[in-house]
Amino acid sequence: MPVSTAAPQSAQPSSAASNGAPDRRRVAIVTGASSGLGEATARMLAAMPDTAVVLVARRQALLSSLAESLGPRASFVAVDLLDDDAPAAVLAHVTDRFGRVDLVVNNAGAAWRSYFADGGYANVAQTMAINFDAQVRLTEALLPLLRASAPSAIVNVSSTAARVSRAGSGAYSASKAALAAWSEALWVEERPHGVHVGLVLPGFFSTEGFPQAELKRSARTRWMVSTPEKVAQAVIRAGFGGQAECYAPRPYGLAAMIRAVWPGAVRRAMSGSGAAAMNTVTRPDKPDA
Ligand SMILES: NC(=O)c1ccc[n+]([C@@H]2O[C@H](COP(=O)([O-])OP(=O)(O)OC[C@H]3O[C@@H](n4cnc5c(N)ncnc54)[C@H](OP(=O)(O)O)[C@@H]3O)[C@@H](O)[C@H]2O)c1
Repeated sequence: MPVSTAAPQSAQPSSAASNGAPDRRRVAIVTGASSGLGEATARMLAAMPDTAVVLVARRQALLSSLAESLGPRASFVAVDLLDDDAPAAVLAHVTDRFGRVDLVVNNAGAAWRSYFADGGYANVAQTMAINFDAQVRLTEALLPLLRASAPSAIVNVSSTAARVSRAGSGAYSASKAALAAWSEALWVEERPHGVHVGLVLPGFFSTEGFPQAELKRSARTRWMVSTPEKVAQAVIRAGFGGQAECYAPRPYGLAAMIRAVWPGAVRRAMSGSGAAAMNTVTRPDKPDA
């Protein structure tokens, strides 16, 4: 059952500011805002002038305290994006309170590490559900409002794993590759309607869901791990900044380039002992998560 905050007084929709000037407030929705990249992005957006931020995730207590810390321009919808009525709940929240939406950051996501022989279709299906289907369903619900609010933008948070697959991460890579491919087509389709579609492909960064503890333990691999704040800058560039595709940090784009021109070498590298160092445990892998 979705829970959304009552409209803060200052977040009520209005067509004109109190001095009669047009209301230039922008409205941004961030999914997966209760931790990691979503939280960092929400903080960055909330620090921008005249930008209202709508936080979306399941954990209501975290959303509530984040919204409180961000001030009256922040509100939230506590919802499981896998629920049938989740997209409608988010749409109702922004329609009732603002009547517009300028940016949707499809960031919520998860990974369950498993070889296909062990996890099978069940693991692929649960990964696709949160990393691809949820983004498609939310975008479908919000697209008419995005068009009506144009110029506006969608940012889809994919992964460098969309371009380079690792053992144990096949389901995750497939879901992020699907998101990247769909985003590319959507960019072309929505351009005439004034809805920009940006794609962010992060490399490793440390969060609650993806702690990257294995990589951070060794000096040999620690340099590979970035921060949610760095990646959030790429989200902003791909959103209000109008960039079509951003690797974050940028050098991760090299991995994708090498994979494109030298696939055999990358495949061999991914079967070697070096690749084993990249077998990172995620929060959903843990039995108590
Ligand atoms: N960290 C990395 O190294 C890395 C690398 C490449 C790409 N990415 C991508 O970056 C995005 C953010 O990841 P992160 O590292 O910031 O992880 P995180 O800290 O685990 O954040 C994931 C967010 O998704 C939300 N979420 C998960 N399932 C949900 C559901 N069913 N309904 C609603 N919200 C849901 C979680 O909130 P609740 O639990 O409160 O619902 C949480 O706020 C993900 O798409 C991830 O795949 C991460």
